[in-house]
Amino acid sequence: MRIGYYQFSPEFGRVEENTEKLADTLRSAKADLIVAPELATSGYLFTSVEELFGYAEPVPGPSTEKLTDAARESGCAMVFGMPELSGDTVYNSAVFVTPDGVEYVYRKIHLFNTEKLYFARGDRRLKVVDYKNARVGLLVCFDHMFPEAARTLALKGAEVICHPSNLVLPKLGQLTTRVRAVENKVYWILANRYGTERKKDKELTYTGKSQIISPDGAILASAEESRDELKIVEINPASARSKKIAFYNDLFKDRRTDIYEI
Ligand code: ACM
Repeated sequence: MRIGYYQFSPEFGRVEENTEKLADTLRSAKADLIVAPELATSGYLFTSVEELFGYAEPVPGPSTEKLTDAARESGCAMVFGMPELSGDTVYNSAVFVTPDGVEYVYRKIHLFNTEKLYFARGDRRLKVVDYKNARVGLLVCFDHMFPEAARTLALKGAEVICHPSNLVLPKLGQLTTRVRAVENKVYWILANRYGTERKKDKELTYTGKSQIISPDGAILASAEESRDELKIVEINPASARSKKIAFYNDLFKDRRTDIYEI
């Protein structure tokens, strides 16, 4: 299976242009699955709920339709972030589009900092999606700081974690995602954005350095700090199935759920 990340710098509020960029990437990708950043259609630095509502869209909606068409043209699927409008609520969501349409929508469960002012917290259980010969789980950015999230997906059978991100704390996400891959023996696709967004007295710089990690912690691909990059690698999802790490050790079977009080 050929998987990859698309690192770029979405332009704030330019939903059509950002989505077109995602669609162009999808059309040109010779891959099975590409992961793009968090809030890739809209940009990140919202300063009011009204502003967020201006760029949020339902799913299915114009952006997911455009990307489904692109997926159909290329035969490649994409996981990307967008503000998802559902009734009068907006979620920070990751959408999995395939040539057959929207396969799954994950609503970020751990909101970071001021996201709590604008987005609703995802309240659906974590789910693993079967796609081609892989079992795929989705998380969004700050979820990486909660090992329970990745562990839950891995225990449910995830072999590949797709992780659209807008990381701002230098080096942290690259470190934790490598650890999450090793401690769960899964592939991990961190698709981060780069660039700086400015609004009045607010400024955020995103850290780039997207990466793909193997179940044994090898860095299969890694991006630079601040440039567009589409990187694709060949993986064998079945190699994430065994959790054995020593003759007498299995990462999942050795868990002491009789002792942990969580
Ligand atoms: C983040 O969750 N966007 C840091």
